[in-house]
Amino acid sequence: MNNTARHIAIIMDGNGRWATERGLKRVKGHEQGAEVVRRVTVHASNHPEVEVLTLYAFSTENWRRPKMEVDFLMRLLNNYLKKELPTYIKNEVRFETIGDISRFSPALQEQIDKMKEATKHFKKLTQVLALNYGSQDEIARAAESLRKEGEEITKERLEERIESSKFGPVDILIRTGGEQRLSNFLLWQSAYAELFFTQTLWPDFGPEELESIIEAFKKRHRRFGGI
Ligand code: IPE
Ligand code: IPE
Ligand code: MG
Repeated sequence: MNNTARHIAIIMDGNGRWATERGLKRVKGHEQGAEVVRRVTVHASNHPEVEVLTLYAFSTENWRRPKMEVDFLMRLLNNYLKKELPTYIKNEVRFETIGDISRFSPALQEQIDKMKEATKHFKKLTQVLALNYGSQDEIARAAESLRKEGEEITKERLEERIESSKFGPVDILIRTGGEQRLSNFLLWQSAYAELFFTQTLWPDFGPEELESIIEAFKKRHRRFGGI
């Protein structure tokens, strides 16, 4: 089989349960989760096939969480970006985002833009963080922008307008944490993704398990509707 793991997308789930199981506050799980983001990103940047790693960090539905947890996630993201810029530079990782970050604080938006600007020329890996991201919302916005211009809504035109489709179709979609659902993540681009659900909670995930998933992916028979 000749499957190429060009684009890997991960629904990073299970941080809260990881912490609760240890008698810790949920936010400790997010902290540990941020470490795993760094480790998995560095690993992917050294993988010869992987060009894009899209990570679901905050969904349009995650605003429903208690304000304290949302505020913590925002602070954690800000600190992560500040701290890890040298890691991205050292490993030649370009940082990108999908989702509507205009709802974030101006300081956080500034930090995000700074990170994008400082890494925009890197080519080893593009890491895309999905922030305030929702796939249905994104597809609806793309359709609405075509309608407003009086354009016909074709598959090709719609795809062009969907912000996240510029990173190409997803080859491997992983969800950690044991749930088997997509939670509004990359619905369009995952049309022919190979799906992997693991019980491992995100803070316990790592390069080794990623490698074994890539290995399993290599053995799958992707038909894309053919025979
Ligand atoms: C995923 O972990 C991280 C985010 C959604 C921000 P959760 O916080 O959803 O962890 P569980 O699912 O409650 O264990
Ligand atoms: C999906 O996890 C969103 C992210 C990983 C950012 P959730 O924990 O929010 O998903 P549900 O609520 O279990 O579907
Ligand atoms: Mg969850």
